[in-house]
Amino acid sequence: MLLLGAVLALGTVGIAWATAGLAPIVHARQSHFKALGRAAKSLRDQIGRSEPDWSIVASDAREIERLAAALPSWFPEGSGRGHGVKTRARAAIWAKPQEFGQAARRLLNRAQDLTRAAATRDPRALALRTRALGQACGSCHRRFRARSSWW
Ligand code: HEC
Repeated sequence: MLLLGAVLALGTVGIAWATAGLAPIVHARQSHFKALGRAAKSLRDQIGRSEPDWSIVASDAREIERLAAALPSWFPEGSGRGHGVKTRARAAIWAKPQEFGQAARRLLNRAQDLTRAAATRDPRALALRTRALGQACGSCHRRFRARSSWW
């Protein structure tokens, strides 16, 4: 009985350790996504203008490219739901790694398209590319994020 108690106590410590290691990973991931959200919002604000500020557009596009390239590294195995840390990352991310990787690559491609559109300074191209970017966010969220609400 004493032994069982000790094993249970150790088990609890093990879980606490795992959770303590997981929380910073999930929180960092969510703050990266917040940065992605801010850059996308900043872009949408520029579309609404008759004279977009092309330097803001270019820096938002670069920021989105940078974040999109890093995105797959924010999802280490075991950092999904059901491990004691609040997250909207669905198990499908690890069950279908190829599809998830494709969704991340699509975002990167769309961000690169945006960088090119920013270089042409064509407001219509900007609007089109920003919409396409939003679709890349939305299609990943629908499949891989619990309770989608963005875009
Ligand atoms: C490859 C998949 C994928 C793509 C592409 C993607 N997201 Fe997400 N996003 C997620 C997942 C999964 C979460 C949930 C993360 C969590 O809760 O741990 C999330 C969470 C978020 C959050 C909530 C962060 C928080 O406060 O917890 C925002 C905001 C967000 N994404 C914005 C965007 C925007 C804007 C884009 C496009 C520019 C985008 N995402 C593209 C998968 C993606």
